[in-house]
Amino acid sequence: MRGKHIILGITGGIAAYKSASLARLFVKAGAEVQVVMTPSAKEFITPVTMSALTGKPVVSEFFTANTGEWHSHVDLGLWADAMVIAPATASSIAKMAHGVADNMLITTYLSAKAPVFIAPAMDLDMMAHPSTAANLELLRSYGNHIIEPAEGELASHLVGKGRMEEPERIFDVLYRFFNDTDELAGKKILITAGPTYEAIDPVRFIGNYSTGKMGFAIADAAASRGADVTVVSGPVDVKPSHPDVKVVKVESARQMLSECERLFPEVSAAIFSAAVADYAPAKPERSKIKRENSDFRSLELVKNPDIAATLSGQKRPDQLTVGFALETDNETVNAMHKLQKKNLDLIVLNSLRDKGAGFGCDTNKVSIYSTRGLIADLPLKSKQECARDIISILSKYDPYTH
Ligand code: C5P
Repeated sequence: MRGKHIILGITGGIAAYKSASLARLFVKAGAEVQVVMTPSAKEFITPVTMSALTGKPVVSEFFTANTGEWHSHVDLGLWADAMVIAPATASSIAKMAHGVADNMLITTYLSAKAPVFIAPAMDLDMMAHPSTAANLELLRSYGNHIIEPAEGELASHLVGKGRMEEPERIFDVLYRFFNDTDELAGKKILITAGPTYEAIDPVRFIGNYSTGKMGFAIADAAASRGADVTVVSGPVDVKPSHPDVKVVKVESARQMLSECERLFPEVSAAIFSAAVADYAPAKPERSKIKRENSDFRSLELVKNPDIAATLSGQKRPDQLTVGFALETDNETVNAMHKLQKKNLDLIVLNSLRDKGAGFGCDTNKVSIYSTRGLIADLPLKSKQECARDIISILSKYDPYTH
């Protein structure tokens, strides 16, 4: 994405606040971003915010009022490598579909020679209206790419389809567009995520605080680069945001192992990010243990299988495995020891000493080791960015040259 010219068109919808994050993602990835706003978009997010984030004055009118300087939509259209309209309201979609060139954004759209990506955002009834569907169909027929809105809670508090896709996903679509010869395209990847629950009785379990956020972020990052991803997940609330990620839900470590054993022969890589319980009750009770009629003070435990070690022990030369290590002290030595003991190719180390890293946080700070030692020491980042880096390193990793 470095050096690419992107026009970011913003129209007047509540989701315009997300355009700021999207602009930032593009700029951080090294792209040059020119924001073009419709007059009503300025009611939702200020041009000052957008020009500060992109380092370029925002274009909105045909002329600058005090100087009479003309803004050439034709030049802009030629400058761009891609045009992204996010959010795209029902009204702007209709204008684009029918060539109603009454503002700078629509004239730029009509002049753009580069591929156009459109991220609709509107209330569910507007989205479901046949007029919107027909206009989107027209845009598709012009070769524009529609980034389908997600289902979820809308600004109106109604729940349904119409929410603009998250900036990270829109970024991924553009990332893929600019890097379409991706090493991961079509490759099968298995990811374990979340905690495991080991039943004590039908209502109690041994578990941990893992939320699955890191594993699902990795799944999204891999899928957005074209990989065919299956997550085997313990009980979590998170869901993948990428529509093509498959999820197999399990509860215990034994169930997780058996699903992974079934899937592993087919995959090119497996990433073990689950926080698997180390022990399980030896004899889970079939009915609820009653406090009154039991003197329940100790629990006999058995060791759980190590999923990462078991599968890495069976891997073929064409398969890679990646593990995680969450350490509090002696981090590097422990991580390298785990890498060797479990026969992994790569290990991602989070230190619990780092603020903002580990369970439940939305950020993470990791370093990545191969059998030859440290290969990347990443700064604190969102779990999504971290996931993209992990996937990027995995996609380029060659055990024979590293
Ligand atoms: O040994 P430790 O739990 O620290 O190892 C962490 C790594 O091993 C993680 O990648 C985790 O997903 C994996 N693991 C596993 N099965 C276990 C224990 C850990 O797959 N029973």
